[in-house]
Amino acid sequence: MKYVPNKIVLVGTGAVGMAYAYALVNQGICEELVLIDLNEAKSRADVLDLNHGEAWAPSPVQVSFGSYADCQDAAMVVICAGAAQKPGETRLDIADINLRIFREIVQRVQASGFDGIYLVATNPVDVLTYATWRFSGLPAEQVIGSGTTLDTARLRYHLGEFFEVSTSNVHALIIGEHGDSELPAWSAASVAGRSISRRIAADPGLRDQLDAIFQRTRDAAYQIIDAKGSTSYGIGMSLARITRAILKNEKSTLPVSTLLRGEYGHEDVCIGVPTILSRGGARHVVELDLDETEQAAFDASVATLRGFRERVDA
Ligand code: 2OP
Repeated sequence: MKYVPNKIVLVGTGAVGMAYAYALVNQGICEELVLIDLNEAKSRADVLDLNHGEAWAPSPVQVSFGSYADCQDAAMVVICAGAAQKPGETRLDIADINLRIFREIVQRVQASGFDGIYLVATNPVDVLTYATWRFSGLPAEQVIGSGTTLDTARLRYHLGEFFEVSTSNVHALIIGEHGDSELPAWSAASVAGRSISRRIAADPGLRDQLDAIFQRTRDAAYQIIDAKGSTSYGIGMSLARITRAILKNEKSTLPVSTLLRGEYGHEDVCIGVPTILSRGGARHVVELDLDETEQAAFDASVATLRGFRERVDA
């Protein structure tokens, strides 16, 4: 892949896109940030607003309003555009409308000659990551979705509260669909260096408490959407974390949505799995030692997403 400058094009500047943009500028993750949105007046105002904060950013970020031609030399195109879930809707309910929107967006990005990394945030994120891979024709390594990175952050937050330990000492992952069929990989989890499985063995009552924490994690978006219409800060920071891992060539592992090619016994589906991220994108899928129950839940999650594959081809 040819060298690309440290420039990000963000398509879609609604609540999620702007929370991401704000996190990027605050953390000095890129050198250039170009915003694209149908609502040009609002986006130009967002550019000005962000530029006014630049004096306090850790490093300069040149923010501007642009067009799809700007994707040509971008390191990453991040897509947050599309319809959002309304109260009572699941993420999968908005698949068809967002597939139509993505067909056009990806075609316009590719027309620029873009050859960097796609990061997809729009829901249903696993379906749209797969669609972006198919529509773009780029190698799978270059197409990533936010996957279960946010769910994992939510789980770590709740476990940190429960065990009264810093979230940085909680190692636990949500994998599978970013949605109702996701699952916690408890067998690979530890808190403050002690495995969750051992903790459950020592205190069997813990299992129910952990199940309740997982349910709260899985259903968190519904609760927030009911109360304030959308989620934004958590996903914005999760996207910034993924972006940093890629642009800084960290080789960090994050549970992003990526194409499976035999890992976990599946292929031709994009789904949230721990993945080593580098400047080249999704470098390697890490296969956890799931127990039988977890593998069965993961298989069911894959089956849920597979049902959407023909809609991508339609
Ligand atoms: C979230 O989980 C709605 O997918 C979005 O916050």
